[in-house]
Amino acid sequence: MNPTFQTVGIVGAGAMGRGIAQMAAQAGSTVFLFDLQPGAADAARQSLADTWQKLVDKNKLEATQRAALVERLRVVGDLASLAPCDLVVEAIVERIEVKQKLFGELECLLADSAVLATNTSSLSVTAIGASLKRPGRLAGFHFFNPVPLMRVVEVIAGLKTEIVVCQQLTAYAREFGHTPVSAQDTPGFIVNHAGRGYGTEALRVAGERVADFATIDRILKDQMGFRLGPFELMDLTALDVSHPVMESIYRQYYDEPRYRPSVITAQRLAGGVVGKKVGDGFYAYENGVAKVPPEPPVPDVSSTPPVWVSPKAARRAEIYQLLKNLGASIETAQMPSANALILVAPLGLDVTTLAAVERLDPTRTVGIDMMLEDAATKRRVLATNPATRPDMRDAAHALFARDGKAVSVVKDSGGFVTQRVVATIVNIAADMCQQGICSPKDLEIAVTLGLGYPMGPLAMGDKVGPTNVLEILFNMGTVYGDPRYRPSPWLRRRGALGLSLMHEEA
Ligand code: NAI
Repeated sequence: MNPTFQTVGIVGAGAMGRGIAQMAAQAGSTVFLFDLQPGAADAARQSLADTWQKLVDKNKLEATQRAALVERLRVVGDLASLAPCDLVVEAIVERIEVKQKLFGELECLLADSAVLATNTSSLSVTAIGASLKRPGRLAGFHFFNPVPLMRVVEVIAGLKTEIVVCQQLTAYAREFGHTPVSAQDTPGFIVNHAGRGYGTEALRVAGERVADFATIDRILKDQMGFRLGPFELMDLTALDVSHPVMESIYRQYYDEPRYRPSVITAQRLAGGVVGKKVGDGFYAYENGVAKVPPEPPVPDVSSTPPVWVSPKAARRAEIYQLLKNLGASIETAQMPSANALILVAPLGLDVTTLAAVERLDPTRTVGIDMMLEDAATKRRVLATNPATRPDMRDAAHALFARDGKAVSVVKDSGGFVTQRVVATIVNIAADMCQQGICSPKDLEIAVTLGLGYPMGPLAMGDKVGPTNVLEILFNMGTVYGDPRYRPSPWLRRRGALGLSLMHEEA
């Protein structure tokens, strides 16, 4: 092993510093671990020695290799001992003045050729390096928790960072098996910026009382394949962590409406209802297990009215086929008969508006989300409008559940649930490409590895169809005049071409 950095200093031996030290030692570097708090670095070294012992016990590591790793990991009692390091990574408290002071001291101790790296997740790399004599030697090296399992690291160039510094950190990350992605120094970098869409839009949907938390979670998991629903995720992360991040990115982007946080999380945070760790969040927890409210049952209906489908419905041919498969009686006349169930399938528009524009009887009109191919989802989502008769709602619910597929009925909002959340995620990602924060390829990698989404946001846009995303955003943003859905120019210009085409730009 001949690592890019032979001798690496880690300052701060908490959760992150410990993980970074493990990676550096495993890359073959000699690691000097320093922490201000007495005993912290020793405890970190002992815990890593135990981790490596477990690997030996599982036959994943040779005992001699473990001995070499433990030998390479050394605790030092003062900063001056870091002088021989050719890289120092900082993972201390997230306060800019403390980090600035630390790097000021380090650059006086280290050789001019040494690289300085900060693991900050929310501060500007440029600002941290502003008072250094050699700001070009500092870059962001942003890991995720837990470091050994989260195999992605953002390499962040501040305004003055020398390219070679980023190149060296990128090469080094590969040496310990992480996937490096390159980011410009902007609020949230890649992962925390791209992650804005999921939670914030879900909170908006909940705030408009389109559906309850559990229903929104079910819909996004079953329709899009997210592993965790947004509310499950926020419960896991805890609102004392995620709400300040939402506020910070919103403020740092000068109140950009796309990132506007929600009063729901502000209030819950104030009340201490922060998530799983306190046993009380969007879900209540018993012995660490969420008590998920049961799904509303499929209504028992004696007869199903004939179904008439709006000529403007998305995927109309597919709806006909689906209705046929479900055994419905289908009306094909120009207008619905007097007792027909009327089906609309809007993209971004609400059922009420469509009923009015198409001059349909709103009391019998129900919407269905057909943004995605029916076969590609595990759940169908229907929307009522305020006038929809309960018998029509129940008939639609029972009809679409006939083949055993899960059905959720939500309130009318325009964009159902998945349409809004996916369009928001894609739009934010497109705007990151517009701003040149990272390459489209790195964006996809960072989001898939860092957020665990089933696919990158641009691939998600391609899956639902970029023109569909644009139509949803146009209707939500332009028709309703809501600036949060203003499409990014990147999406506007390239949407029709397909978003994944652009990956080649990397
Ligand atoms: P932590 O609280 O577990 O550990 C921080 C350690 O730094 C403590 O042991 C503390 O004694 C030590 N420390 C504080 N000031 C110091 C100083 N001036 N000199 C030397 N040691 C000092 O914190 P954690 O979670 O490890 O995070 C550390 C940094 O990593 C923060 O800047 C945070 O923003 C960043 N980060 C954290 C992530 C996370 O999920 N926890 C994810 C990505 C980045």
